[in-house]
Amino acid sequence: PFKQRLLVVANRLPVSAIRRGEESWSLEISAGGLVSALLGVKEFEARWIGWAGVNVPDEAGQKALTKALAEKRCIPVFLDEELVHQYYNGYCNNILWPLFHYLGLPQEDRLATTRSFQSQFAAYKKANQMFASVVNEHYEEGDVVWCHDYHLMFLPQCLKEYDSKMKVGWFLHTPFPSSEIHRTLPSRSELLRAVLAADLVGFHTYDYARHFVSACTRILGLEGTPEGVEDHGRLTRVAAFPIGIDSDRFIRALELPQVQEHIRELKERFSERKVMLGVDRLDMIKGIPQKLLAFEKFLEENAYWRDKVVLLQIAVPTRTDVAEYQKLTSQVHEIVGRINGRFGSLSAVPIHHLDRSLDFHALCALYAVTDVALVTSLRDGMNLVSYEFVACQDSKKGVLILSEFAGAAQSLGAGALLVNPWNITEVASSIGQALNMRADEREKRHDHNFYHVTTHTAQEWAETFVSELNDTVVEAQQRI
Ligand code: UDP
Ligand code: G6P
Repeated sequence: PFKQRLLVVANRLPVSAIRRGEESWSLEISAGGLVSALLGVKEFEARWIGWAGVNVPDEAGQKALTKALAEKRCIPVFLDEELVHQYYNGYCNNILWPLFHYLGLPQEDRLATTRSFQSQFAAYKKANQMFASVVNEHYEEGDVVWCHDYHLMFLPQCLKEYDSKMKVGWFLHTPFPSSEIHRTLPSRSELLRAVLAADLVGFHTYDYARHFVSACTRILGLEGTPEGVEDHGRLTRVAAFPIGIDSDRFIRALELPQVQEHIRELKERFSERKVMLGVDRLDMIKGIPQKLLAFEKFLEENAYWRDKVVLLQIAVPTRTDVAEYQKLTSQVHEIVGRINGRFGSLSAVPIHHLDRSLDFHALCALYAVTDVALVTSLRDGMNLVSYEFVACQDSKKGVLILSEFAGAAQSLGAGALLVNPWNITEVASSIGQALNMRADEREKRHDHNFYHVTTHTAQEWAETFVSELNDTVVEAQQRI
């Protein structure tokens, strides 16, 4: 059958490169929800365009890496060190990321950030231009160009300047905040206008879409309609497309001998204890300190459970050149140390904290043996870890404790125990409730979520977005 060509443009390629020699590279899978969801999209003739996560100053290295990436259908955008510093560490991860998650600018360097704002914004635009020029080199008529996330808000406009007939969609993987928050950005209007150049703009939830439309009406004075945003008769379609996972991949993995073996080992190791699990990039938005404090409170108040429960926290290192992330790492280590010192014994500690990533099979095994998963994001676009946990729990039927501030609360809310992560008393008591929950209730809750996760997959998400984009373009042509 005919497969439409899809150019997926995201800052982060699905593989990150590590240099092994002058012209030799190895590639490893990148971390994060954007990459895992897009890897679940198969029914397209897709090419990826993005940054490979390394600085490659020399031509020989660039050539060799381009060749290695081509085998994975990936096309690199080369960004030099200074640009990465200003665009990626600076504007994207020190300004947009915290703001879109309602965290405000980092406390200590608020003024410094304000001062460097203009130069970082200029770098952001420049980087977006570089992505656009690579897209333009590879674009063929009829292709769908799908831009992703907060790194590339300028891209739709750059692309339409090259070719106004290009089919351009943009999808945001983070929350879009209330217009009152977006309003504080010095570049508020330019960013909105650049995104509006797209034909279709998508968000995880209806709330985020509504926030975006009201930012456009209040800040730009445009008209918001049920279809999207209108500017002098031109419509940008705005809608919600909740993302999902490739649930079959997880379910199938549980049958593999090496995963089964892993599951056996874990069960044996923790046979005396209930297992609680956290899997997060080590990011401020994940509420890891809050989660640890809630667990501490639970242990404090429930002496009975002290030697009967263990919390495994996988904290995947991320954006390690950004100061705020470095501070978080030491803060988390300090709290873990304190709690383990307080409640540990010579033979066991209550928290196993790992600063590392896990391979896919180890992760599946861990999800499968878990009794209670703990997701305490202060804000989170969707949170796919909660979906992955549910997909791996069909035999165990464990409990998901889920922050009401994660997009996933809207889809898995009926099966999960929803909590406000800022309220550690509430989280501590939900831990107790989850550990003591009767099997019939666990089963009912799990079934509800399992149904959702297996029927709302990444593949369907992509198909819906792309077909909506095709339709939107046809409708726009009919209007002229
Ligand atoms: N993940 C990973 N490496 C790990 C552990 C987890 O890549 O060592 C994956 C995990 O399977 C999930 C993604 O990272 O698919 C995290 O996605 P989520 O939406 O929960 O949060 P994000 O990191 O995008 O903020
Ligand atoms: C979130 C963002 C993604 C990003 C991922 C990992 O999921 O929405 O765009 O790729 O985090 O972060 P990194 O900065 O390593 O790409």
